[in-house]
Amino acid sequence: MKVPNIDEAKLPTHVACVMDGNGRWATNRGLARIEGHAAGEEALLDTVNGALEIGLKWLTVYAFSTENWKRPVDEVRFLMKFNEGILTRHRDDLNEKGVRIRFSGKRDWRVPRRLIKHMDQSMDLTKNNSKLTLTIAFNYGGRGEIVDAVRELVNLGAKASDIDEKTISKHLYYPDAPDPDLMIRTSGEYRISNFLLWELAYSELYFTEVLWPDFRRQHLFEAVAEFQSRERRFGTVGGKKS
Ligand code: IPE
Ligand code: IPE
Ligand code: MG
Repeated sequence: MKVPNIDEAKLPTHVACVMDGNGRWATNRGLARIEGHAAGEEALLDTVNGALEIGLKWLTVYAFSTENWKRPVDEVRFLMKFNEGILTRHRDDLNEKGVRIRFSGKRDWRVPRRLIKHMDQSMDLTKNNSKLTLTIAFNYGGRGEIVDAVRELVNLGAKASDIDEKTISKHLYYPDAPDPDLMIRTSGEYRISNFLLWELAYSELYFTEVLWPDFRRQHLFEAVAEFQSRERRFGTVGGKKS
């Protein structure tokens, strides 16, 4: 289906998204913060369906950071259960639509075993799909990912002279994923918050005031249209090649 203002020939290959503003959305309505997270489920599903609609190949969403453990224990507990629920409620539908689900982040002892089991089942169920790769960054931190890559290289016996940008890229959590072309952050916060630090080096950044629970595919399309109006230079002087 054609979407106005989007040139399907110039889609970003990979869009990354910081789903932020759930707590404020709830507080604005006199609700508990967790109600905001719950309302974010529809936003996520609509965004994924919008990504499928325009033919995006890669979508990565930030669901829980390594810093989010500092939140009240009840909120953290809710988020663990909630993410498990999202998987059980939607993985079959996403599977039928050709979505490959993956998780990026640390599997440390704090992540409940049941959630890990559902993550593994969802990844396994959808592993042969190729329409859209949906990567859920969960217990993810960008600095930690770089540290893990360097540790892996050291464990493999790499010499200092072996280590360059390519080798580090190859040891990130998902070396097959292209770097995001576009990073969207909702809720009017202008920061990265430890998301994909290495991979975002040359991404176009798009910030919107919309709070995550209000985000819908239309907002994704607006961000993609804005992306298409930008000139990416990658350090050159820009302009068209003659
Ligand atoms: C994003 O919404 C969801 C997570 C970090 C898990 P927040 O919960 O950060 O919402 P605000 O920023 O407090 O409004
Ligand atoms: C980033 O949002 C993490 C996720 C959306 C999962 P935060 O709300 O945790 O970020 P800060 O604390 O405002 O930087
Ligand atoms: Mg926040």
